[in-house]
Formats: sequence, structure tokens, C-alpha cells
Amino acid sequence: MLRQTELFYGGDYNPEQWSREIIMEDMRLMKQAKVNYVSLNIFGWVNIQPSEDVFDFTFLDEMMELLHKNEIGVDLANGTASPPAWLVKKHPEILPITINGTPSVHGSRQHYCPSNQLYRSYVKRLSEAVAKRYADHPALIMWHINNEYTCHISECYCDSCLAAFRQWLKEKYQTIDELNRCWSTKFWSQSYSERDEIFLPKEMPTFKNPAHQLDYKRFISDQNLALFKLEKEAIRKYSQDIPVMTNLMGLHKHVDGFKFAEEMDVVGWDAYPNPFEEKPYPQFLANDLTRSLKKKPFLVMEQAPSAVNWRAANGAKKPGQMRLWSYEALAHGADGIMFFQWRQSQGGAEKFHSGMVSHNQDPESRLFKEIVQLGEELEQLNELVGTTYVADVAFVFDWENWWALELDAKPSAKINYIKQMRDLYKVFHELNIGVDFVHPSESLDPYKLVISNAQYLVTEDFSTKVKAYVNAGGHFMTTFFSGIVDENDRVYLGGYPGAFKEVLGIYVEEFYPMPLDAKSRIAIGDGTYETETWEEVIHLKGAQAVANFTQGYLAEMPAVTQYKYGKGESYYIGTKLFEAGNRVIIEKILTEADIPSTASEFIQNQSHSISVTCRENQLDNFIFLLNYGQKSETIQLNVSAYSLLDEAIVQDNITIPANDLKILKIPKVR
Ligand code: GLA
Ligand code: ZN
Repeated sequence: MLRQTELFYGGDYNPEQWSREIIMEDMRLMKQAKVNYVSLNIFGWVNIQPSEDVFDFTFLDEMMELLHKNEIGVDLANGTASPPAWLVKKHPEILPITINGTPSVHGSRQHYCPSNQLYRSYVKRLSEAVAKRYADHPALIMWHINNEYTCHISECYCDSCLAAFRQWLKEKYQTIDELNRCWSTKFWSQSYSERDEIFLPKEMPTFKNPAHQLDYKRFISDQNLALFKLEKEAIRKYSQDIPVMTNLMGLHKHVDGFKFAEEMDVVGWDAYPNPFEEKPYPQFLANDLTRSLKKKPFLVMEQAPSAVNWRAANGAKKPGQMRLWSYEALAHGADGIMFFQWRQSQGGAEKFHSGMVSHNQDPESRLFKEIVQLGEELEQLNELVGTTYVADVAFVFDWENWWALELDAKPSAKINYIKQMRDLYKVFHELNIGVDFVHPSESLDPYKLVISNAQYLVTEDFSTKVKAYVNAGGHFMTTFFSGIVDENDRVYLGGYPGAFKEVLGIYVEEFYPMPLDAKSRIAIGDGTYETETWEEVIHLKGAQAVANFTQGYLAEMPAVTQYKYGKGESYYIGTKLFEAGNRVIIEKILTEADIPSTASEFIQNQSHSISVTCRENQLDNFIFLLNYGQKSETIQLNVSAYSLLDEAIVQDNITIPANDLKILKIPKVR
């Protein structure tokens, strides 16, 4: 497989919108900005297949040649993301159908049903044609398949999907009795005697069967993955050595990133933090999550150079913000920084979405100068390629749990997987503790601490794994409404949280969700900390209380617990804390699990506003110091280091201006 040697820098390139003159200007500007990689042909279907029996590669050939001549590598898309009008006219049955039965017609993009066999056959033919033509092209360095699966179409209720869903259920359950058992269909007279009695979960009078809904979500993710695999196989028929990927979307709910990553050679995501936010933690988290999908460096496949066009108010990135957030990704394991798109469109839906080259066409503009600066800097940092991110802590992340947790008819509608995860993640980020994300099927052994946030759906396998992990000395922390149901959304009986109660040394008798806008407090030692959303009746079965509820019926009862299990320790938070409370608990756990801040052996004073992370290879540590504060900060060093961007040796201390960063290379002692 072709190996990456340079950090990738560039963006989506859509030259079909532009004149030859502008395209030639693009080449000049790309060279100036040190662009070495562009994504081409993502929405190119109709350009290369203008009608059913005509393939015309003239323009794409020319672009590939031109980019090659300019030493710019190509992430070449098979171009299947937006089916042409002629195809829709001939086969309107490829269109996705909304829950109300309405087709989503041609005139935007992603107007296809992922299950539709006709669409799939056209996709296969197109992918094979593109792969055959460019497999050996010297500009080609990556295959880009489709675009952001389920970004716009995350459900479809067409007949193809219905047939495919019934088939999917057949493969999963084998017998209808097994399906009935797993779906708890004895309730509300829902039992099926044959598979063709089963609908897609369309409009229904009231709550839909949750296991039915959960399987539909699994099915949609699987159907899109099957489509990805079909596209990949079509490419692999002609091209075996070029890595294959698609652009994922970080915290996007509808496709299971771990399952997709298994089929991808490289993972990447499209990062769209809101410039109005100073520290967009969900996007910071998504860098770590995306890297964790393969436990390998990832690519930022798209980010906005400045504003997007799809929020109600589209803030422009402030000077330095794009650069600092790009380094945030690099500091957390990115091996490439890409933008949507190279040149801001003149017409069409995204003309007010920023580009690396703006409408103003001014090479002296703030934005273009920053684009050039970042390109020049990344050229100095190629030794980072392939280095490993260092993390002692793992958060469990499970798309299936996310789907199950947020279905309706739960004790509180306020439970939110990502918001709760973000609140916990933020504390680790601020304390400069590196985190990975793990799928429940992965090993927990590499980590000193495992965090299971709102992990409502837990398999028996995972429950067993956690017990073994803690028993052997691991630290495990979980939060309210975790360990409640199995993979069929059936409750573990005998007291909550069934899957975790043994390892936690507790039993929860009853939930006491709070009114939606209510706040309460828990007491830890002499202090009290604000809570919301949730309280519950916890009985200690060996565990001890770390914090107690303070109000009403629950006053004095345990709210946070700790339990020594085997050689390890487990912790439970039975409410939703705010930042201060989370911080106190997490700091206590980090001390007990003996997890120091990143690079504390090299740095004497970890300042609050400096974010510290580490990437490493066998020879060196690369310490990233990002200053998110308002003023410059001086860090005391225990060792001398080489500052990559300054190209200078630093000793004793280093000053990092506000909104700026340093990357220190420190050899490992051998
Ligand atoms: C997505 C798409 C791009 C573009 C950007 C705009 O990420 O993949 O084609 O539409 O959004 O933010
Ligand atoms: Zn469909």
C-alpha cells in the first residue's frame, strides 16, 4: 500500500465550475500555498458520464495531468455522491423516500436510496470506469469514495429498503421466533408470524417498538456500509495499492464509524466547529474519536477556511483561529489538514461558504495569508507523519448505545449521549490528559482508566470484560443510566445497573429523574456541587459513598460511589454534574489511578490555558503546546528541546504567545 510521507495540505477542488484561465491561476496559487493534495471529482458524476452510454474523461484527464505537473497529489473520488438528472429521469425509483412517503427529487445532492439495486449498479459501473482509467495515474494517492454517507439522507422508507430490511432481519435472527423474542413483541400484541408482516418503522400511532427502531438504525448504517464496500470493491478490481477512504463526520449519529473504519485504509472527518465558540469541545473530541477508529493518524478531510453557509448566523473565523484549530487536530493525531473548498463558488448553494481562495481574489487578504502561512509551516513538520498519539485513558464509544439511549420513552428526555460525553471530555482536555475512544469489542488493557459515559446498552461480553479489567487492576468509571439493557434493549433484572452492579458494588433501586429545568446539589466533603437531570436511590453493596444527595427524599443517600474490586477500583456517578463537580471527581480518580498530565516529566508548570498533548515515535516525543488563553504564557522546561516551528533549540523555558503554539521535539532517553 502506498505510504504517506508528507502531511497532506489542500482541499476539495471543483474545477468544473471554472474557466481555463482561473484553473491556471489555481495552480499558481496552490503552489504558493504549498498545497500538495486535493480531493477531485467528488460531485463529478455528470461531467464524466453525461448520458447513460457516454463516458467522457477529457476534462478529468486534463485536471489529473495538470495537478501532476504541479506536483499536487490527488484524492480521487469515484464521483457517486450526486446522481445525474438523466439517471433520475430514467429511474426515479432510485430516489430516497421520506417518512411521509415523499421522494427527495433531483436538484440538490445525495438523492439516492442506498439499498436500491439500480443505483448500486450504476455506482458500480461508474466506479469501475474511474478506477480503470486512473489506477496507474502518477497523481493518484488516495481513493475517495462517495461523500459523507447519510449526511442528508439518514433514513429511507422505499420498497427497496423494506425488502432489504426484511432480508437483513432474516440474516440476523434466522427464525421469526427469535425475532419476536428479541423484539419483546409479546407486549402490545406485536408478535409476527411471517417476516413480510414487518414494516419499516414509518408513521405509527404512538411509541414504536424500540428494538424495531434500533434494528432499523443498525440496518441504515449497514446498508450504507454495504454501499461503501460495493464501491470499494469496484475500485479494487483495478487498483489494489492505493488506499481507500471516505470522509466521515466525527460525531455524526447515523453511521457506525468503527464499522466503517474497518473497511477503510485511512480515516478522515469533516470538521465544522462554530467560530463563535472559543473552544468547540465536541469537535476537539471528534479528532480523538476519529483517530481512535483505527488507532492510527487520521485526516481532517474538510474544514471551513473561515465561515460556513449553513448555520443561522455564519461567523467568520477570527485571525489565527483556523490555524490554532488546525494544530489542535494535528496535536491529536492528524496527518493532514484539508478544506472545503479550494476556491469559493461563484454560484450554487455554497457560494457563501468560505474557500481557501475567496470571492475577493486578494492574495493579500487575511484569509489567504493564513492559508499560505499554514501551508508553509506544515512543510516543516513532515516528521510528524505516522507518529502515535499518547493516551492513558479511554472513553467507551458505541454508536449502537447512542441510538438505543436516545430513542423515546425513557425516564428523562434530557439524557444526551454527546453532551454528557463532552462535559466529561472537557475536563480531561483541560487537565491535559490524553484520551482514546474504544469500541466495546476492543481491549481495555492498554489503559489505566476507562470511562463509560451513559452506556445504557451493554452486552454481557462487555460486562464480563469490565469485571476482568478492574479485577486485574484497572480503573473504571461510569455514569447514571449505564448498564441498563442488553443488545435487544431488554432490561437486566435484579436491580440497576444490571451489567455493572457487581463491578460497582452497588444496586440502584429506583430512578428519580428531575424536572427538566430543575437543579439540585450533591455534597462532597465540605463542598456542594450543582446537578441536573437525574437522581436515584443507590444502595451500597460493598462500595462507599464519595458524595451524597442533599435534598428531599434522597438527602444523605449516596450520589457518587467508589468500590475496590479485585486489584482495581470502580466509580459511579448517579447524577448529572456540571463542570466543577465533574472536575473534583475526575481529579480524585486520576490521582488514585496514578495518571499524570501529559509531558509532566518535561514541563514544570502546566498553565491552565495551555493545552499539552504528545505524539511519539520510537526515537522522539513531540510535545504540542497550544495557547488558548488571552495572554502569552511562559512554560518552564526540565530538559532542552528542539522547537520545530522556530527551528531552534530551547532551554529552561519557552514563551507561547496568545492564540499561538509551539511543537517541541524531545528525544527519548534510551
Ligand atoms: C460537507 C460536504 C461538502 C460541503 C461542506 C460545507 O462537509 O462534504 O461538500 O458541502 O459540507 O460545509
Ligand atoms: Zn430506500
